[in-house]
Amino acid sequence: MQANRAHWSSRIAFVLAATGSAIGLGNIWKFPYMAGANGGSAFVLVYLGCIALIGFPLMIAEIYIGKKSQKNTIEAFETLHHAGTFWKSAGFLGMLGCFLVLSFYSLVGGWVLDFEYQSLLHRFANESDDFVKNYFVDLIHNRQGTQIFWHSTFMLITIGIVAKGVSNGLEKWNKILMPILFSLLIFLFVYSLFLEGFKESIHFLFAADFSKLTWKSVLEAVGHAFFTLSLGMGSMIIYGSYMEKEGPVLKQAAAVVLLDTFIALLAGTIIFTIVYTFNAEPGAGPGLMFVTLPLLFKQIPGSWFVSNAFFILVFFAALTSAISILEVLSAYLIDTKKWSRIKATFLVGGAMWICGVLCAYPKLIIFGKNNVFDVFDILSSKITMPLTGIMISIFFGWVLGPKAIEEAVGIRSKFLLQGLVWVVRVIAPICVAVMLYKGILEVF
Ligand code: TRP
Repeated sequence: MQANRAHWSSRIAFVLAATGSAIGLGNIWKFPYMAGANGGSAFVLVYLGCIALIGFPLMIAEIYIGKKSQKNTIEAFETLHHAGTFWKSAGFLGMLGCFLVLSFYSLVGGWVLDFEYQSLLHRFANESDDFVKNYFVDLIHNRQGTQIFWHSTFMLITIGIVAKGVSNGLEKWNKILMPILFSLLIFLFVYSLFLEGFKESIHFLFAADFSKLTWKSVLEAVGHAFFTLSLGMGSMIIYGSYMEKEGPVLKQAAAVVLLDTFIALLAGTIIFTIVYTFNAEPGAGPGLMFVTLPLLFKQIPGSWFVSNAFFILVFFAALTSAISILEVLSAYLIDTKKWSRIKATFLVGGAMWICGVLCAYPKLIIFGKNNVFDVFDILSSKITMPLTGIMISIFFGWVLGPKAIEEAVGIRSKFLLQGLVWVVRVIAPICVAVMLYKGILEVF
């Protein structure tokens, strides 16, 4: 173990940081629009199933691999197995995923910043509904300069925090931002309780209707389970590696998974309450949050306050996730390649920034059919994350084996332990492999 490796100051600090990584645009922006586009409740049910059956065990695996090895996502596999092990390719694949995700994630973070800026100016308050509805579409299609400006701002803030390191950067900011975020969401939830669309929203999200279930939505649910829990890229390995080496990880993994799921459902309920209260379109796609919410905000009392609160909240959520993505690549370059933290964060962040700029051009088609944004999103959620996930599951279940699983879980119940061994050895890899296969068919 490296004597001078930075560590979280407490277990709570780890849980806050890992929850900060997990809770992000995936929960507040992506989950509601995917649920909306896939018919609601059945998608939600499959998503919950994936979280329990695949997400939770993989969360345990990733945190354990980091904690036990005390290393970055490449060296972790070498430390736990042997130098030059094949399994470190899971680490590289994860890094590729990080690169793809943060490029478009920062662009979306930039959209959030633009909406926050408009909220600050109270811009939507006196405009027509049509203006508000068209604002998002116009931003995406015609205003590349504005998008790039905010994308640059978002990326610079992310780089700035990661450049400061574990305790002064990651931990400090997560400690401040996460509690604010929880409070704001609870406030908005209580607010939505009093709107008339609340009941319909609950019905849409929770009254399972399997007639709407398709292979495509199952595929998206699996991909999203990875995305929302920050799995399959090494974020949880790297955050785990800043914990003290000894002790089980079961409780921490459970806390992160439960909090993330809770927040996604809370955000979903709020957004669909608004959709049903104001007769908006649930299947509106990526614009859902950006179109429906400003519509609501301009009509309610205290609109300036509520809309600012909301977009600041989303920005914080996105930021605490973005830093966990950048940290994966930076930690590798710092530990293994001996780069300085400043050099690593700025160079990697800069390269992602360039790719993010390409994502801002929806008409820039690559590989024949999709634009850069979609290609990055599809490649990461449907290919690199599942593939990395399968490798980590097999590594945990077969290479490290039942002893490690027992150590990670820290309980003596033979029954539970056997169940988990089965899940990580067989069930999770097979389920994800089927999805990966379907995903590959869809992409090529
Ligand atoms: N989980 C974050 C979200 O829901 C995004 C994220 C952070 C992520 N780190 C990741 C996604 C690692 C995949 C892998 O917005």
